[in-house]
Order: sequence, then structure tokens, then C-alpha cells
Amino acid sequence: MKKPVILAIESSCDDTSAAVIKNGEILSNVTANQKIHAEYGGVVPELASRKHQLHIIPVVDTALKRAGITQKDLDAIAFTRGPGLLGSLLVGVGFAKSLGLALGIPLLEVDHMQAHVLAHFAEDPKPSFPFLCLTVSGGHTQIVKVKSPLQMEVLGNTIDDAAGEAFDKTGKILGLPYPAGPHIDRLATQGTACFTFTKPKVENLDFSFSGLKTAILYFLQDQVKKDPAFVERELANICASVQETIIQILMDKMIKASEQTGIKEMAIAGGVSANSGLRKTFEAIGKERGWKTYIPAFQYCTDNAGMIAVVAHFKYLASEFTDQRVTANPRLRFNQ
Ligand code: KG4
Ligand code: ZN
Repeated sequence: MKKPVILAIESSCDDTSAAVIKNGEILSNVTANQKIHAEYGGVVPELASRKHQLHIIPVVDTALKRAGITQKDLDAIAFTRGPGLLGSLLVGVGFAKSLGLALGIPLLEVDHMQAHVLAHFAEDPKPSFPFLCLTVSGGHTQIVKVKSPLQMEVLGNTIDDAAGEAFDKTGKILGLPYPAGPHIDRLATQGTACFTFTKPKVENLDFSFSGLKTAILYFLQDQVKKDPAFVERELANICASVQETIIQILMDKMIKASEQTGIKEMAIAGGVSANSGLRKTFEAIGKERGWKTYIPAFQYCTDNAGMIAVVAHFKYLASEFTDQRVTANPRLRFNQ
């Protein structure tokens, strides 16, 4: 049987990434980050697109080199079609289409959110089907029921901000650099969760985070009025409290989803799954409830082409190819 060698490209937001996968095994996974957005407190789409154009050729070259292959060894090229920023996606889609045309090999389009879920198949241990995956990133918060590699059903979604945005926007209020998630994570380990914030009341398995951001803002404004040095003195405790609240909101819904579906094969994915508090709490709750828990290695949590390559591998086996007419879709949604 053919052992497909696929080059995968990810450029949906501010990371340019390329990976090579051979017969389901990732041979290389190379990512160039863009530091420029930190000074603006968030990703600037036009700058992200221009940086992707600068990074894409060296990143692809390095991925091929590290995998020990050349372009001639490739059987297909995969790319993130969406969701994401249009200008960023266009760079990856355009590059993949051109290279596919030049080499005369087929294309595979990948949904970025589906890729975050299948990041669990980049390495062992791999979950068995069906499993539930909480996908928490800068743009999305979803609970997904995964029936097979390419059959997924979204059970819950955020109705406003994503969990990553809750970290990043709170960080902005606290004067932390963008993206604030990793900073809040680090500071939280030095504090205790001694402040409480009202959690949103959202029906079913959906999420809401915009109210939490406002609650934190009002709480801090009140405290600073009484004591101008409050944030400086209490920073670690504030971070621990914010993080704890976000984790509780996420875990409450995971528990509900497991109870509703009877599934105990449980996974987390996406940039926020790099959070040390979330990883610990998820495992502790899993132990209590008899779940089998799965957390990807750090390099497969945040945006990377390795996870795009995994989806591409499954699509190749299912002969789900796309063609040169395909375009980027910033609002792509898989079967929901
Ligand atoms: O999946 P990702 O790399 O990109 C998107 O598809 O959005 O996720 C980025 C998000 C950002 O909001 C960032 O603050 C958050 O993941 N993040 C974290 C941590 N590392 C990254 N949030 C909390 N704790 C972390 N350690
Ligand atoms: Zn992502």
C-alpha cells in the first residue's frame, strides 16, 4: 500500500508553519512566530499577511530539509482553508496551489478547528472513538463529539468571546503583553485564587466569556479607586483567580457533555490547552470521574502545521482531494 508523503501548510492567523507527514508519522513541524503584533496588543491582519509572505518559503524549505526529503518526494500538498484571517489564509492557500500545480500533485484542504482536534493523532497515546474534545483557542471555544477521524459534531460553541480572548483581554486590562495567556498562566502559579467572579449562566453546552471580562474590569476599577496599588500588589492573585474562573467554566461544560453523551474518552486541544492550570484540573477531574484524558504535547497545542498534516493524512486515505478552484474561507465551519 502507498505510504503518502504530504507537505502541510498552516497560515490562518499569525504563525507560519509547515510540516511533513509520511504514512501518518510527522517527520518535521516548523513554525515561524510573528513578534510584531505584541506592540499592538493583538494581531494586525495586514501585518500578519505580509509576514506570512516573508516566512513561507524558508519555513517550507526547513520543513522539507528536516524531514530529509525534497519536493519530488511529495504525493500531495495540504493547507488550512479556514477559519482564520482572510489575508493570512490567502498566503498559505496561494502557495499550496502554486506548488501543487508546479509539481502536478493533488491538494487537500483542511479545516483549522478539525485540525486542532486531530492534533491528538500526532503522537501516542491516541484517543479511541467516540471521544469528546474541548477545543479552546484564541478564536474558538467548542465541545466536539468525534465519531471518526473525519466525522465530527459540534455540541457546544461560544456565543461571544473565545476562552483565549478571555485570557488575552483580561491581560490587556492588567497591562500584560499580548498574547497574555502564557503570562497569566505563569503569574497564576505564584498566587492563589482568592477573588471570585460571577460565572455566566448559559444554557446547554454553549459558552460565554464577554460578561466575565466586564466583571473583571468593574472589579478592578472598584479596587483601584480604594487602593491605586491594588493591581501591582495583587497581580499574581488576580491572575490565579481569573484563570481558575475560566477553567471552572470550561470544566463545568465538559462534565455536562460527558454526562449527556455517556462518553468518558475526553480530550482538550487548542492554544489554551497549553495552560498548566487547565491541564492539571482536567486530569484531576478525569481521575475523579473515571475519564480517560488526553492532552496534546505543547508543540501540538498552539497553531502548527503538524495538526494540519494529520487531517491531510486521513483525507488522503479517504481520497478527499480538492482542486485548483478552491479558495480561502475565513468563516469555514465543519458539519454542524
Ligand atoms: O490555537 P492558538 O495558537 O491560535 C488560535 O487558533 O487562536 O491559540 C492562541 C490562544 C491565545 O489566546 C493565547 O493567549 C492562548 O491561546 N494561550 C494560552 C496559553 N498559551 C497560549 N492561554 C492560557 N494559558 C496558556 N499557557
Ligand atoms: Zn488555532
